[in-house]
Amino acid sequence: MFNPRKTTLRRIAADKPDAAVIAEAAAVLRRGGLVAFPTETVYGLGANALDAAAVQSIFAAKGRPANNPIIVHVADAAAARKLAANWPERASLLAERFWPGPLTLVLSKRAEVPDIVTAGSPTVGLRVPAHPVALALLRAAEIPIAAPSANRSMRISPTTADHVLRGLDGRIDFLLNAGPTSGGLESTVLDLTTDPPQLLRPGLVSVEQLEAVVGPIAAGEHAVSKSSTESLRSPGLLERHYAPRAKVVCLSAENRGVAQELLQSNQRLGWLRLAGTNPELQLSTGSNRPIIIDMPADAAAYSARLYAALHELDDAGVDQIVVDLPPSGDAWLAVHDRLRRAASDEGQKVK
Ligand code: TXA
Ligand code: MG
Repeated sequence: MFNPRKTTLRRIAADKPDAAVIAEAAAVLRRGGLVAFPTETVYGLGANALDAAAVQSIFAAKGRPANNPIIVHVADAAAARKLAANWPERASLLAERFWPGPLTLVLSKRAEVPDIVTAGSPTVGLRVPAHPVALALLRAAEIPIAAPSANRSMRISPTTADHVLRGLDGRIDFLLNAGPTSGGLESTVLDLTTDPPQLLRPGLVSVEQLEAVVGPIAAGEHAVSKSSTESLRSPGLLERHYAPRAKVVCLSAENRGVAQELLQSNQRLGWLRLAGTNPELQLSTGSNRPIIIDMPADAAAYSARLYAALHELDDAGVDQIVVDLPPSGDAWLAVHDRLRRAASDEGQKVK
């Protein structure tokens, strides 16, 4: 159950956050409220990480399953160390290289971190975000901020304040609108409690970049299909986790023929077209012309665009979203991961 709340919306400059607006948001957090704010990946839904009741209200607002742990955001590596029971050399090296930035490190937690944050796990996910608004908020509030992505559970993460409002208006206290986020996909989650470290979620920091700093890392369970929340190491690994309302179909070289079939069906189609593929779509006419969104050929630009494009097609009310699968390769790992989850039918029962 969530408590209805009046959501206060404030615009703020992404590069030069206004101190008075930040102070207002920080005060809301300090008194146990919920504040959605931009990070360089996606918008987060923040609460005081040391206040179990405040964190409980995140779960209520999102409809998030209680067994899905929440990332704790901190202002710098020193603040992260205060929440970790130990701080391995690898954590120092990675923090030095990638923080502030889109990397979450999973470490043994200290007792001060409430169990509700970590869903009962003895580990905590820690991240120093790079967005100036997020950093200013952390510094002003002087508390660690627990923040999952600011969407309703099982929906696509928000990359604009408008996306946040669509899912959470009336469920959160405050929203800092700093325009679209630059990264567009969630942080990489790396478990440092195992040897070798384990990739729990691919993200904007690539495996190659991580391995250059700490040596080999294990692929993790993200490659494994999961359909229930039972004993998940990281419930964000649930197959269907980043899903639009429309059904998503991914087209590869092997099943490209499906394109013609879909065009002839009477479904309303959206199409995330990759430059150079499906040139014939341009020519397709008739009542069933798909809504085409041309996607960038560069992995970073594609990542930044993906969720907004899926939101747009959902808003247009399409029945199916067809996606030209981008090339494989390390730079595209996170994009492939999110597309596979968006296309999965598994785990839909899980709320
Ligand atoms: O980029 C991001 O990471 C964004 C921004 C707001 O920071 N946050 C985000 O949070 O994507 P969320 O809750 O949507 O995804 C967090 C992921 C989930 O897959 C969760 O299971 C995993 O991190 N996670 C968090 N704490 C964990 C822990 N202690 N052990 C294992 N996995 C953890
Ligand atoms: Mg999320």
